[in-house]
Amino acid sequence: MLVEILDDYEAMSNRAAEVVIDQIRRKPDSTIGFATGSTPKGLYDRLIEAHKTRGLDFSKLTTFNLDEYVGLPPSHDQSYAHYMWTNLFDHVNVDPSKIHIPHGMADDIDEHCRWYERRIEEAGGIDLQILGIGANGHIAFNEPGSSLGSRTRIKTLTSKTVEDNARFFDDPEMVPEYALTMGVGTIMEAEEVLLLANVTNKAPAIQKTLEGPITAMVPASMMQLHRFAHLVIDETAASELEYTHHHGIAEVPDGQRS
Ligand code: F6R
Repeated sequence: MLVEILDDYEAMSNRAAEVVIDQIRRKPDSTIGFATGSTPKGLYDRLIEAHKTRGLDFSKLTTFNLDEYVGLPPSHDQSYAHYMWTNLFDHVNVDPSKIHIPHGMADDIDEHCRWYERRIEEAGGIDLQILGIGANGHIAFNEPGSSLGSRTRIKTLTSKTVEDNARFFDDPEMVPEYALTMGVGTIMEAEEVLLLANVTNKAPAIQKTLEGPITAMVPASMMQLHRFAHLVIDETAASELEYTHHHGIAEVPDGQRS
């Protein structure tokens, strides 16, 4: 695993942007997996800036998002589709026909999930998958206990997630109880996985991800089995690591894969 520990959120976002921009420049027709949430917002701001000021070209990319709430139309302001359009896609020249986000209103959910997996395969697999991590070690909506070989499927949200989300919805009826999510197995097939984390409350999950046993109770711990897991995290998220001297960027020459 390549672990880079940066000073703060700004530095983490800058470094993550370098990795993604480098991927797009090296292979303009890359397939990129995107995540939502607060963590990658700084990265997306920098990608927009690179498009506007340095001509970064998104037109040949194919994209796949990790997850989406069931029951929300893409136009709903809490849908992940809405997040992606407002935080990135609306501001760059990505081809809408090459964007894939699981559809929370699909009639046949199981068939839709199988179609999503097929689309990833037809696109030649994901070159670079961007990931956040939950404080409980989840990746995408693969909560603790998720099968480590899982594929794209419907998941019941934990009662904690449902409660946490309730504040974002005027209509309590609309608060989602299910999500569609790529599985841990789907994520593991990406060529490179770029996992970002900042904030102190992620520190225990990062410690378990890097230094704990591989377990379904910490789905992110599967990063230890990935052929190229790249973690770009800030000091606060790294604060509970025991072996920071092994993980620090000073110890890892640029571009070295381990
Ligand atoms: C979002 C996703 C989630 C988030 C994670 C961290 O598409 O898959 O797993 O990455 O919950 O969320 P933030 O970044 O808001 O702390």
